[in-house]
Amino acid sequence: MTATIDHAPWFTQARLGMFVHWGLYSLPARHEWVMNRERISVPDYAKYFERFEPDLYDPREWARAAKAAGMKYVVLTAKHHEGFCLWDSALTDYKATNTPCGADLIEPYVEALREAGLKVGLYYSLIDWHHPDFTIDAVHPERGNPEAAALNEGRDMARYRAYLHGQVRELLTNYGQIDYLFFDFSYSEGEYAQQFPGKGRADWGSEELLALVRGLQPGIVVNDRLDLPGDFATPEQYQPAGPVLSGGREVPWEACQTLNGSWGYDRDNLDYKSADQLVRMLIDGVAKDGNLLLNVGPTARGEIDPRAGEALAGMGEWMRVHARSIHGAGAVDLVPPPDCRYTRRGNRLYLHLFAWPFQHVHLAGLAGKVAYAQLLNDASEIRMVELDPHQQAGNMTQAGQAPGTLTLTLPVQRPNAAVPVVELFLTEGD
Ligand code: GLC
Repeated sequence: MTATIDHAPWFTQARLGMFVHWGLYSLPARHEWVMNRERISVPDYAKYFERFEPDLYDPREWARAAKAAGMKYVVLTAKHHEGFCLWDSALTDYKATNTPCGADLIEPYVEALREAGLKVGLYYSLIDWHHPDFTIDAVHPERGNPEAAALNEGRDMARYRAYLHGQVRELLTNYGQIDYLFFDFSYSEGEYAQQFPGKGRADWGSEELLALVRGLQPGIVVNDRLDLPGDFATPEQYQPAGPVLSGGREVPWEACQTLNGSWGYDRDNLDYKSADQLVRMLIDGVAKDGNLLLNVGPTARGEIDPRAGEALAGMGEWMRVHARSIHGAGAVDLVPPPDCRYTRRGNRLYLHLFAWPFQHVHLAGLAGKVAYAQLLNDASEIRMVELDPHQQAGNMTQAGQAPGTLTLTLPVQRPNAAVPVVELFLTEGD
């Protein structure tokens, strides 16, 4: 049974969304953690603030690219760990309106998505390397400073908490309906909680914050990184091996994935996944009841660069004809043949063939349960047979199959698609 979110059924129907990491880190163009990795101080990082001028920023173009790729929602980093705000926050000067850009960038983003019929998502970093009250810890750029402990004496997380709650209130009050919120992230345990104490729900005031979010936007979906369970789980840069469980129960989940291992624009990083691989990742996730939030890192001028554009276009090419095996589809309790994935929507079962066999594919347990079969890309009929289980293999006769097996006869030529799909109309189901 597909795990869903009662107050927001759109989320698990959507299956595919676009993540956008965009901020001052897009200028150095060396990964969004550049401030941490290169241990850049707040004054030294100011050069990016002074030169932030995204003259080609056109969120309508982002929305168009997302839509053409078959995406149903977009999630933009309103503030990432560097602390820079893309909106005109009344609580800080560290915002887009005070850079050469001079404008609130969230407003046109929200409008463009609504206009395109896409759900509106925001990412908000719990971590803040700019705020003077955010204590130095193991992820902070100042972690190597011998004065860190002394500096922390003067920092007050209660003040930071008030700032964080205030900013979330602004984002959820000033821009109309927000459908999705991604908080990032908690580390009360693990590698970031060794040398310095980590941070988690007590630091963020997570319970109060979540209540604030739900009070302001009752329909919103919230992720699980507040160090509290959220509406959905967020596996990052890996494909779960099966449905995702929390407390022994299946939960809605969304894998967030990069195009090249970096979230922010990373000019010299050429480790791009191919469109074929991305399509497989999407299908693999939906077959396990999950969403894919696929990231792009626009340039400092505000554009989705050509390499990312190409990947999106490749997905779009596949989605244009295959979206109905993805949108509104989910896992099914059947074991697929090798190198295949099943998804199901109502009485339609979708067989995704990662490898193209010669002529026959055998579907265990489906004999007598399929009324009609066709290739999804061109709606051409696929003939079905049930091979007699007692049939012996001969020179020109294939062996029988286990009772209950349905055999499909495929064309020798593999359809020209990243992943060909057979649509099976089940005799039973809604
Ligand atoms: C992380 C990273 C980050 C990225 C994010 C996306 O936890 O800190 O830079 O924004 O995950 O899920």
